Formats: sequence, structure tokens, C-alpha cells
Amino acid sequence: MGFELLPATKEDFKFFIPPLFKAMGLAHFVATLWPDNQTEQGQQRAIERFMAEMDGHPGIRWIKAVDTTATEADGSPKIVGVAQWAVFEASKTYREVPYYAPDDIWPNELEKDYAIHLWESYIQPRRKVLREDTLPVANLQILCVWPEYRKRGAGGQLVDWGNRMADELNAVCVVEASGMGQPLYEKFGYEVQELVGLKDDARFNHRMDGTIHRFMMRARQVAAQSSQ
Ligand SMILES: CC(C)(COP(=O)(O)OP(=O)(O)OC[C@H]1O[C@@H](n2cnc3c(N)ncnc32)[C@H](O)[C@@H]1OP(=O)(O)O)[C@@H](O)C(=O)NCCC(=O)NCCS
Repeated sequence: MGFELLPATKEDFKFFIPPLFKAMGLAHFVATLWPDNQTEQGQQRAIERFMAEMDGHPGIRWIKAVDTTATEADGSPKIVGVAQWAVFEASKTYREVPYYAPDDIWPNELEKDYAIHLWESYIQPRRKVLREDTLPVANLQILCVWPEYRKRGAGGQLVDWGNRMADELNAVCVVEASGMGQPLYEKFGYEVQELVGLKDDARFNHRMDGTIHRFMMRARQVAAQSSQ
């Protein structure tokens, strides 16, 4: 039996942010960008950040996969995983991705600079796609299923949901894939475009050896059909 997919609302953040940070993996990336992610204050900050992001970007869509046989504390169906899709359409107002860096979450300026450097390295291919006027673009920004619910199809359902939405908009889909995510995305029509590592910076090169993510893309389906 599959899971049910529903839009996640602001009310759901308190339920899914703690398990999301616990289950997301990508340890170096998450610990660098969200150094306070395991504290109550850090998780509250994350909730506020995600809410502000939703208010500023009409294309953000959080989707939850739920197990209808169990419940959260308020009686709503139990969340087993979430996806955050972002649709970038013709509006110029939210095409660039600003970096969010409050002053007081890193121990010093160097650590803050490294977090910005890692983010700037991470985001390069997405920026390029958004700048090259290939809109609309649907970007799967976050995907996570809680470990005890994995390998039962929830991840695939959340990817498929976004693919269908993208096809209705005739959008290109992009994702910054983890090693765990890559096979799932391949199954759903995505291809690796490039392996993305840290940009060269002598201060930081020793901190990460290898791939931050695999930038993957799924072509516009209407364009693909019409060219056959
Ligand atoms: C990547 C991730 C989201 C996948 O979630 P998931 O719910 O396990 O995904 P699915 O169940 O749809 O697919 C995973 C595998 O289970 C298999 N599967 C799906 N339903 C199944 C079922 N009922 N019985 C057995 N296997 C099943 C799929 O075929 C797939 O197999 P594969 O690994 O051989 O390709 C999850 O592992 C995760 O949250 N990882 C950590 C965070 C992360 O890396 N996210 C991606 C960031 S880009």
C-alpha cells in the first residue's frame, strides 16, 4: 500500500523539521549550513526561515507523504517524509537564490565564510540554469523519507508528484542529488549533468575532498515529445 501525498502547511513544520534534520544525511553539508540544526532554537529558526521563504517565493511547494494508519500529536496523519519543490516561472522577483546567513550561528567569521563558500559552490549549476532563461524550472530542493519508512515507495511518490507538476507547466526539473538520491532520480528520468565539488579556495580546499552533489536534470517532456 502506498502512502498518501498531501500539501504540507506551515502547521506541519513543527512535526517534520526535527525528523527531517535527523534523517537528512549529507552530514558535512547540513552541519556547515545549519550548525544549530540539532538544537530546539536552531530548529525553530529553520521553521521561521522556511516560512519566510514560502512567503517570499510563491513557487515553493512542500509536500508530505503520510501514513494514514498513524497520527501526529494533533491527530493529523503521520508524516513519513517530505519534499520541497520550488517552481521558478517567468517572474524575475525570485529567480536568484539569496543566501541566508544570520550573524550569530557560526563560532567565528571563518566558519561563516566557509558556509557561504560551500553554499556558493553547491548552488552554481542551479543558478546557471535559472539565469539561462530556460524557465520554467522545477527544482527538487529537499527530499527525505524517515529511515523506518524507506524502501516502500514514498520517495518515489514524492519525486513523481513533482515530475507531474513540472510536466503540466512544461518545466525542466533539476535536483542537487545525494548519493542515496541518485538511483531514485535516475529511475524517474533524471540524468547526471555534473559532479559538483567545492570551488577553489586555498582557505577551504582541505575541508572537503570530493563531491558535494550530483546536479541532475530531467528534460521538458513536451519538448522531448515534439522533437521525436
Ligand atoms: C533517497 C530517499 C528519499 C529515498 O526514499 P525511499 O522512500 O526509500 O524511496 P523509494 O522507496 O521510492 O525507493 C527506494 C528503493 O526502494 C524500492 N522500493 C520502493 N517500494 C518498495 C517496496 N514496496 N518494497 C521493496 N522495495 C521498494 C525502490 O524500488 C528503490 O529501490 P532501489 O534503491 O533499488 O532503486 C531516502 O533514502 C532518504 O531520505 N535518504 C536520505 C536523504 C537523501 O539523501 N535525500 C535525497 C537528497 S537529494
